[in-house]
Amino acid sequence: MARHAIWNACQALGLKRNDVVLVPAYHHGSEIEALLKAGLSIKYYELNDMLEPDENELEQLITPDVRALYLTHYLGFTQDAAYWRKWCDQRGLLLMEDAAQAFLATREGQPVGSFGHMGVFCLYKTYGIPDGAAVIADVAIPAPTSRPKSGFIRMAKRHFNWLAERNSMFGRVRWFFAPILTWWRLKTDRPDEDFALDDPMLPPANMSSRLLPSVLSESTAEIRRANYQYLLDHLSDLVPAPFRTLQGGESPFAFPIETEDPRGFLKSIRKQGIEGLLFWFFPHPSLPVEDFPKSKLRREHILAVPVHQELTKAHLEHIVNAVLETQGKLTRTAIVAS
Ligand SMILES: Cc1ncc(COP(=O)(O)O)c(C=O)c1O
Repeated sequence: MARHAIWNACQALGLKRNDVVLVPAYHHGSEIEALLKAGLSIKYYELNDMLEPDENELEQLITPDVRALYLTHYLGFTQDAAYWRKWCDQRGLLLMEDAAQAFLATREGQPVGSFGHMGVFCLYKTYGIPDGAAVIADVAIPAPTSRPKSGFIRMAKRHFNWLAERNSMFGRVRWFFAPILTWWRLKTDRPDEDFALDDPMLPPANMSSRLLPSVLSESTAEIRRANYQYLLDHLSDLVPAPFRTLQGGESPFAFPIETEDPRGFLKSIRKQGIEGLLFWFFPHPSLPVEDFPKSKLRREHILAVPVHQELTKAHLEHIVNAVLETQGKLTRTAIVAS
């Protein structure tokens, strides 16, 4: 997983206990856990309205023990990593690029993740494989040494879901068991456990290594952009500012929607067969949430719907209709309530 790649890169880059890394307050949480488990200390920074670091704020955070800047490419949209590499070089800092959600994205023709002293990518977020991440760095990173898992059960689950979308018999079986599974998931859900590092030496599952060469395609980012553009053409009013235009090199991970009530929104579109996600609702427990109000607001109001390369035109139309209908319903409820 990408968190394992981050942990290994920290060792290889020679980052030592108590070295400080500047990290964004808007984060997934597992990357923060990986940095902390690698022995590093962290200082959080806020992002501006376009989700970019603010240079003045970063300058104020720099102390002699700061060794690196952690830069995240959100939802497959790209930061100006060339600029931040120069900025880091001028200050003797390492640039750590998190492209976990931005595999195959480019900025001015260069892959993001390749500007920094290290860059990480999460492969299973782009392709339907059980797990798998990649890391590139200015230094050699030793291969993971633990025994790989088979990945069979995760793969079987994904295949079953794929079949359930296309075959009514499998669809009915899933429909019958879905409430039980959802109940069990909610009962056993521990958001902080989502961040756990586990074994950083675990290589990708055998199934992932076997399947990756056959699913990997350079056209993936382009298809995701086309799907994203379709949704943007119909739903741009609902999209947060940093994600409202495509420049050309993005590899969109999902389509973000800003709303007062993301949980209610998700519930409503789920009834119409669309599985969205609460986008980073829970921060890492080390974040002093109230000190970073912009990131707090984002966590409370953004959800995301799919744009992946397997979607058809009919799927996209269905997403647009479900989102517009839900939005209309929520707006009417809000008007009645006021
Ligand atoms: C920005 C970012 N970095 C790192 C990670 C960790 O990825 P993985 O789950 O592969 O460890 C995630 C996971 O969602 C993420 O969103």
